[in-house]
Amino acid sequence: MPALVVAGNWKMNTTVPEATALAFGVKNGAAAVTGVELVLCPPFVSLSAVKDAVAGSAVKVGAQNMHFQESGAYTGEVSPGMLRGLCDYVILGHSERRQMFGETDESVNSKIKAGQAVGLKPILCVGETLEQREQGKAADVISGQVRAGLDGVTDTSGLIIAYEPIWAIGTGQAATPETAAEIMGGPIFETLRSLFSAAADSISLLYGGSMNASNAGEYAAQDCIHGGLVGGAALQADQFLQVAAAVASAKG
Ligand code: PGA
Repeated sequence: MPALVVAGNWKMNTTVPEATALAFGVKNGAAAVTGVELVLCPPFVSLSAVKDAVAGSAVKVGAQNMHFQESGAYTGEVSPGMLRGLCDYVILGHSERRQMFGETDESVNSKIKAGQAVGLKPILCVGETLEQREQGKAADVISGQVRAGLDGVTDTSGLIIAYEPIWAIGTGQAATPETAAEIMGGPIFETLRSLFSAAADSISLLYGGSMNASNAGEYAAQDCIHGGLVGGAALQADQFLQVAAAVASAKG
């Protein structure tokens, strides 16, 4: 079975002191959750403080985005080399970045390769809009995003895919575990299989979109779901830890 992972996407929330306190809260409860990799993804400005806060524990740190160039005239951007040493993971292609900041499958693909080149583990996010789902296009959209995002990628170690239906993010309208599994065990897994053969079997697949302590166990009960990418429920340490505990117990 692929590694179990629960990642908290803090989005544009928390000041540095707030992020530090939240990270300490997770660290303090982390030992009680076994068998699940916990990843905290704060805003860039808090990466260093969160890294220091979780030092000495198994809790890992991730960034929420990254540029694919190593340096240069890209005002406001952060490069792969700047993240190396500060975090182990990087969320790439989140739907908010695709929808609000013009990210495309091509730029996401460049970022994945650039991240891997410096040893970062990419969490590639894919997901369909409500309109695409209603038009029966969800499977095609998702497999297209996976295929294009991973074009030319050969290293699957540390690669994670997060399925986040856009209509389920921050809405409280989570996809049912069956709907999520249909896409994750279907077009996502099949596309990974066609790209990477048997190596696809060890890629962790996370569900994201209104995941919380009450529903996390139902997702993890699905064979093809190995954890979650958690937004709102990651902003409170106890809730985030409960999500992870629910995943651990569903798989245990
Ligand atoms: P949510 O966000 O859990 O608040 O729906 C998930 C995400 O966007 O990663």
